[in-house]
Amino acid sequence: MAEPAFLFVCLGNICRSPLAEAAFRAAAAAAGISVIADSAGTGGWHAGEKPDRRSIAVAAQHGIDISGLRARQVERGDFDRFDHILALDPQNLADLRRIAPANGRARLRLLLDAVPGWQGRAVDDPYYGGPEGFARTWDEVRAAADRLVEELVQTR
Ligand code: 4NP
Repeated sequence: MAEPAFLFVCLGNICRSPLAEAAFRAAAAAAGISVIADSAGTGGWHAGEKPDRRSIAVAAQHGIDISGLRARQVERGDFDRFDHILALDPQNLADLRRIAPANGRARLRLLLDAVPGWQGRAVDDPYYGGPEGFARTWDEVRAAADRLVEELVQTR
């Protein structure tokens, strides 16, 4: 079976979705599951940039180097290349639904819907706050990544 392909999408692809991508890769690797993981932004202002230094720092605290990632904007082909597209907040999900082709392959979903009790919740944008916001972002995307991998294990 082909590896399941997951795309994590926020607004800028420099703060939240690179952390979601990294947490998901780490959780899948820990479970011994091969996956394809990527991230993107609904906006393109930061295309080509590294993740925000505060995201790089929080990932490093958890032993993961995300400094090699580069931001990109979501593109039409993503809706066919990925099995799952996970939106970090409800606005990102609405924006994705607006640009999604009618018969794309990807299942669109709010990321925290994967976590029991957290349905409908946003991973809030930590961009304008302090480092504690990034720690919280990590905890949230980590919890969701673990559940997504559990779902893969159960359906394997
Ligand atoms: P992200 O955070 O969506 O988690 O990458 C943001 C980063 C930059 C901007 C907005 C959100 N911005 O407007 O520049």
